[in-house]
Amino acid sequence: MARIRVLPPEVARKIAAGEVIERPASVVKELVENSLDATSHYIWVELWDGGRRRIVVTDDGEGMEPEDARLALLRHATSKIFDERDLFAIKTLGFRGEALAAISAVSRLTITTRPKEGPGTRVWVEGGNIKESLQVGAPQGTRVEVEDLFFNLPARKKFLKGAQTELTHCMEVVLRMALAYPEVGFYLKHNGRFLLRLPPTRDLRVRLGAVMGKEALPSLLEVRGENEGRVVEGWISKPTFVRANPKGIYLYVNGRYVRDRLLSHALLEAYRGMIPKGSYPVAVLFLRVPPEEVDVNVHPTKTEVRFRKADSVYHLVAEALRGALSRPLIGPAPSAEARAEVREGGAGYLQATPVCETGGLGLEEPRWRPLGQVLGTYIIAEGNGGLLIVDQHAAHERIIYEGLRKKEGNYTSQRLLVPLIIDLRREDFQILTEHIEELVSSGLHLEPFGEQTLAVKAVPSFLRTHEIRGFLEELAQELSAGSKGEAREKIWALMACKGAVKANTPLSREEMERLLRDLSSVSHPHTCPHGRPVFIELDRKELERRFGR
Ligand SMILES: Nc1ncnc2c1ncn2[C@@H]1O[C@H](COP(=O)(O)OP(=O)(O)O)[C@@H](O)[C@H]1O
Ligand SMILES: [Mg+2]
Repeated sequence: MARIRVLPPEVARKIAAGEVIERPASVVKELVENSLDATSHYIWVELWDGGRRRIVVTDDGEGMEPEDARLALLRHATSKIFDERDLFAIKTLGFRGEALAAISAVSRLTITTRPKEGPGTRVWVEGGNIKESLQVGAPQGTRVEVEDLFFNLPARKKFLKGAQTELTHCMEVVLRMALAYPEVGFYLKHNGRFLLRLPPTRDLRVRLGAVMGKEALPSLLEVRGENEGRVVEGWISKPTFVRANPKGIYLYVNGRYVRDRLLSHALLEAYRGMIPKGSYPVAVLFLRVPPEEVDVNVHPTKTEVRFRKADSVYHLVAEALRGALSRPLIGPAPSAEARAEVREGGAGYLQATPVCETGGLGLEEPRWRPLGQVLGTYIIAEGNGGLLIVDQHAAHERIIYEGLRKKEGNYTSQRLLVPLIIDLRREDFQILTEHIEELVSSGLHLEPFGEQTLAVKAVPSFLRTHEIRGFLEELAQELSAGSKGEAREKIWALMACKGAVKANTPLSREEMERLLRDLSSVSHPHTCPHGRPVFIELDRKELERRFGR
């Protein structure tokens, strides 16, 4: 029995209409989506001339009965929805019944298909008109050949880019889908040569390695979160592994690749203060929500969605990302009492560090044991099944920064017996007085003292008084460069930088231990506030790899 029906006009009208076929990659996307909807296990994509001359997509899916093979080519003919209600609970990638009609209208198209039972069918279409259809022998599945895209629309054809560019777009489309369906095998050939061979796998990491390169794998953190039937999962890069563009970001909603503002905002927000400006993490995130909670019918190419419970979705994703990025460097967090006790103790200059309130120092032996310092700058430590090389300045910067951030608005400081009087350039004085409130709440108490002079009455414990002038001058520079909203963060980052132990400073064993312990309690140990790496970890695997064991 035929399954495809032409949608009634009142449903068809409610479908976000639009020209979906712009270039070979759009054809590849629609055909591969159809193959996935037909529950295929293997999908082969063959391209000639970047897809401009010929595109063939073959699958081993359900196939179609003879009548369906012809119906499939009509506009609004689909087996995936029946009436308006179905539009609100889409479980398939396609649903508009437009793609095959749209492709066949602008190319010479041949479908060869056979369902599990029954005969095979071949249909030839040219510029939207069925030329011929025949019963043929064929393997189970569907093969769609699209030749001479835009042969009847010379203006559109002229707009296509060179073969290499079109090929790149086609590959990107296939990779996006390959990441979302690791259990499906994807193969791509160009002009007869294999460019992609992605055998089916149950393990997403295997697929990730194949798509992103194996070297990315050690830099990935697992993400997982769940609330009220919504699930987010996937992998994101450690803040030390970034790219200069957002091309390594892949977001999916219910198996569909999307470009979604809400999700990308949650992602970039999670990395704020951890990676340098203008850089982007690598991320593959899958969000699954009940189909009725998401409207995929808002954009012709279906790459945009609308969430009915946007706040809950944002919250779920943001929390899961925070969880992944703040997984402690060392062991589980200890109990509250344990933390309280440890905070009392400590010795050495590092005691002045405003250790943050959450996370744990741990009463148990620290798992990272300092072995020594090299070049007066790096701490070498052993533990957690490997070796750690820590940049002492970057680590201390991160610790101070998070301490300031946690105590936002009530940072205690040391009162100076005699106020420190600092003369400044007029512009610097001007901008600093505008931010007195933020400076005071970060522990630096200032008051105007004449036309371009400030009196410093109290300083945060980790700032040395002879550094205050340099700090204020640099801060004035940075504040004048940016927007007001970021002032606090700039103050914290610069205070942290000034207050942190410098390179070329010998440290005692206790100081090193203290630094490692404090580092283990911060929520984002991987990078300093400017986004530089804090440590390099060489685990057993990595050491064995390097020594060829
Ligand atoms: N590879 C395929 N395998 C099985 N059936 C297919 C395949 N491609 C298309 N079809 C059938 O043709 C119909 C129309 O496809 P299409 O024009 O892409 O619309 P949609 O995917 O939105 O339903 C689909 O609903 C499906 O029943
Ligand atoms: Mg489709």
